[in-house]
Amino acid sequence: MAKDSLTVTDNRTGKTYELAIDNGCIRAMDLRQIKSGAEDFGLMAYDPAFLNTANCKSAITFIDGDKGILEYRGYPIEQLAEHSTHLEVAYLLMNGELPNKSQLEEFTASITTHTYVHENIKGFMDGFRYDAHPMSMLASTVAALSSFYPEAKNVRSKEVRRRQMIRLIAKMPTIAAFGYRHSQGLPYIYPNNDLGYVENFLTMVKSIGKQNWRSHPALVKALEILFILHADHEQNCSTTATRVVGSSEADPYSAVAAGITALYGPLHGGANEAVLRMLREIGDKKNIPEFIKKVKDKDGDKKLMGFGHRVYKNYDPRAKVIKKACDEVFEVTGKNPLLDIAVELERIALQDDYFVQRKLYPNVDFYSGLIYEAMGFPVDFFTNLFAIPRTVGWVCQFEEMISDNDQKIARPRQIFTGQRKRDYVAIEKRG
Ligand code: ACO
Repeated sequence: MAKDSLTVTDNRTGKTYELAIDNGCIRAMDLRQIKSGAEDFGLMAYDPAFLNTANCKSAITFIDGDKGILEYRGYPIEQLAEHSTHLEVAYLLMNGELPNKSQLEEFTASITTHTYVHENIKGFMDGFRYDAHPMSMLASTVAALSSFYPEAKNVRSKEVRRRQMIRLIAKMPTIAAFGYRHSQGLPYIYPNNDLGYVENFLTMVKSIGKQNWRSHPALVKALEILFILHADHEQNCSTTATRVVGSSEADPYSAVAAGITALYGPLHGGANEAVLRMLREIGDKKNIPEFIKKVKDKDGDKKLMGFGHRVYKNYDPRAKVIKKACDEVFEVTGKNPLLDIAVELERIALQDDYFVQRKLYPNVDFYSGLIYEAMGFPVDFFTNLFAIPRTVGWVCQFEEMISDNDQKIARPRQIFTGQRKRDYVAIEKRG
């Protein structure tokens, strides 16, 4: 009997099966041979929300949730946040290795030559209401990009895919900035390709009334760090949505638009917006104990937003880096008064049995909103600031999925619990 195997006895039949173990997994399809009789379809695995199901093999991002470790292509997130730039990290995630100087220059040039969007995109965005949510605008506009690049349908061409990856990374800040300007009733600012990725984005968002408006370098640096921290996070909800849509061989714009809509939800990227609203609702440190009581009330509907994670059962390493970055930003912008509430909320929660027993720690979204707010971004724009850098992760995961011979169109099974065959009853005969 092979050592890397699992022996299973089906007590319905008394039969024994040997299932191979590879990378700590059994293949769910190997269960299918286990049948209670000739008519039986075969055993399946029931796993709502993929709690214990690996959907792919991936070489991009490693997470050890118990130890609080996050690595991109083997490089610890803390080192990348300290030393790297978002575009260097994008190159790393796409190519597997850090670039040398000329590779980085070439890659940066390829991104900056794709930052403009077709003029009709502006007309498209003008159609949104003044109060349209920035995530709705971003998702719809990215989906619309596929109509501007019909070649993107050719997902079996590596060269064509590569071009769309570059376009998506390059155009995302432009589209997000146009959405912001639309909400504010301000004219759109075109990209300035002499600026770095983050500085160009901030200029497109904030520049007003000055020819050479420039963001404070400390704020550019802080957003650069936030972009690096958000670049990828293996098989999260939005990445899975991107992979699933991409598995039907839809073009990358349509797949990434699905990723954006998945990110929008408050249990995922939308949590950064929800945290800020929660901190405002708490309003004062003295109200924290009452708020925590409501969170713990099983009959209530309150959650401690920015806490908890499917994978991290320890402090989210990204939250640690962001907490440190807060100080540098607040030195320039002045302290966000909500910081004191957040720090006290964390302190109280981390001593409370409810959170300790469930291993609930601050996640990436707990402190990021405080920085975004201090930088003058409106709350409903926060998740755009997550979507821009995560585009790198989405396109890399799309690429990995489409190049993987193990992958097929995503199509889970179900356990049917409804009515079986019955005869149609004419409407006048129904009770
Ligand atoms: N506040 C209060 N209780 C919580 C929280 C929270 N934030 N998170 C989890 N719990 C409780 C659950 O009620 C559950 O309790 P129970 O065992 O008594 O039923 C237990 O902890 C386990 O939680 P699950 O919901 O099973 O954990 P799951 O892995 O399904 O959910 C999630 C993870 C969605 C992140 C959850 O922790 C949550 O809703 N957090 C708040 C929203 C948030 O911050 N999302 C951002 C996540 S990071 C990201 O996506 C970028």
